[in-house]
Order: sequence, then structure tokens, then C-alpha cells
Amino acid sequence: AAAVGTALLATTVSTQALAACEDGEIKIKFSHVTNTDKHPKGIAATLLEKRVNEEMNGKACMEVFPNSTLYDDNKVLEAMLNGDVQMAAPSLSKFEKFTKKFRVFDLPFIFENIESVDRFQNSETGEALKNAMRRKGLKGLAFWHNGMKQLSANKPLLVPADAEGLKFRVQASDVLVAQFEQLGANPQKMSFKEVYGGLQTKVIDGQENTWSNIYGKKFFEVQDGTTETNHGVIDYLVVTSTEWWDGLPDDVRTQLATILKEVTEARNAESFKVNQENKAKIIEAGGVVRTLTADQRKQWVSALKPVWDKFTDDIGEDVISAAEASNA
Ligand code: LMR
Repeated sequence: AAAVGTALLATTVSTQALAACEDGEIKIKFSHVTNTDKHPKGIAATLLEKRVNEEMNGKACMEVFPNSTLYDDNKVLEAMLNGDVQMAAPSLSKFEKFTKKFRVFDLPFIFENIESVDRFQNSETGEALKNAMRRKGLKGLAFWHNGMKQLSANKPLLVPADAEGLKFRVQASDVLVAQFEQLGANPQKMSFKEVYGGLQTKVIDGQENTWSNIYGKKFFEVQDGTTETNHGVIDYLVVTSTEWWDGLPDDVRTQLATILKEVTEARNAESFKVNQENKAKIIEAGGVVRTLTADQRKQWVSALKPVWDKFTDDIGEDVISAAEASNA
């Protein structure tokens, strides 16, 4: 299968052949929601597609559908269990219906930086999390980094009280709902593709995301500014259906796993840099970026820490301790 550039339209994809595929090849549809250009997930998915199509020619073929063109982030896991899509990389906040263990990733200020997240994901505890949904039919293949979350709104946010009364979009995660309620704000669950419109029409006042998503989807254009809070993480689980994965011929599964591991290591090492480039682009385009003083940051940390207690039982003390230990 030769590498392909353009994606087929979502509505026709289930009935049409994939552009990269030839007869007899195992077809792999990879669905995600972000842009492809200058985005940690977009770049990684495109690289994976290219390598599968070049190196597994005759055996397997892959087509990536970015920008929610195939499935919305809230629908893709059901589609996977129905066999309509084979791979995806939803953010770790979007697995709530399948496991409560992933709530650890949403606890505010639990990770100091993306290196801490990396150490935790590669620890024994992190490895075990990939298999947390096996009984529900989902298999985690790899963690992909995006980066740390920043906070934006239609007014300056410097201390926790600034967020009071504002409506914030959150991903479909109860931890993130609790986080904004803790600030006296109004969280609203919304899919990624609706965020820009929501901000523009003022259905919501603010949102939290990485530099690459804030630049990639132009959120900064419809916000007063973004505060560099690094208060949480947006990372991904590359996920597949256990049934599909176990049914692959051994040589195909092994080769696919090897390519994925290499792509993961190569791209995770670049994710911080990619986000910094996006931050620079925001500033270049006239977007306002605010930083916190040490004292302001302390205020956010202590305002949000009570959120942890609400989810300790779901996550497990052992998992939380392992996450904290990764900050060393
Ligand atoms: C979001 O919904 O804000 C992000 O998870 C989108 C993504 O996949 O980066």
C-alpha cells in the first residue's frame, strides 16, 4: 500500500475501499480528533500510517482520519467495539465508561511536567493501566504524549477566584467536572470539535488544553488570553479492540507492535518541543499568554488539591502514590 494524502469522506468510508489498501491486505482505520500538522498526536499518527503502508505492504494498510472526520471523540470507542474502526488515540480523560483508574491522569497538579508523566506511564503501575479495560474488550497499546494543560477564558485568570462563575468546557471526565466546581465555576462536558464554536458564541467562557490544541484549533483567537498553569495533562492511549488484535496473524501483530513502539518512542521524545512551538505561534499571532508568580501558582494548587479526595477510592492509593513518586 502506497502512502496516501487525502482522507475519504466519513459518510462513504464504511462502504468504500481505503485509499491505501489493496485486496488481501488487513485494513486498519485510525480515527482521531486533532489536526495533523504540528500536533504531537497528528504527527505520530501520520508517521505510523506512513510506516505501516511502506513496511507492511501486501500484509496490512492504514488510513488515518484526523479532525473528527470519522468519529467524534465520544463515539470512537463504541465504534471500535463494533468493529467499525481498528485504532484510535483518545485522551486519557475519555475512558470513563471503561475504567475509573485513568482518573489519576486528571487529578490537578499531580504531575510536575511531561517527564513525570512519562516515568509514571513507563512504570509497572503505568504498564498495568494499559490492560485495565481488557474485560471490556479494549486493549491499550501505547501511551502517546500531548502535554501539560493551560487555562484560557474570556477574561484574565491569575488567581483561583478569577474562574468563579465562569462556564468552562471539560472533556467527558467527572474529575474535570469536580475540578471546576471546586473553583466555583460551571463545567460543561462537550466534545472537542464543539469547543471553538462554543467559545465563539459564548456558550462557554473558557477551556483547558495544551498549547498544541489551543493553537491547532485556534481557541486563542476567541479568548482573552491563556494562563500558563501546567495544572494537568492531556495524553493519549493508543487503543484497539482486544478481539481484533488477538485475531491478527502473529507476524502482522508483531510487526505492527514494533512499528508502533518505535513511533511512540520517537514522537513522545518530541512532544514538549512541539507544544513549545505552538505556544510561540500563539504569541506570534498576537495571542496573550500569562504566567503565574510562585505565590499565584501556590493558590491554584491549594484551591484544587481537595479534588483528589473525591477520587482516591476509584483510583486506588497505590496508583496515586506511584504517580506522585514519578515527580522525583
Ligand atoms: C480534548 O478533548 O480537549 C482533547 O482530548 C482533544 C485531543 O484529542 O487532544
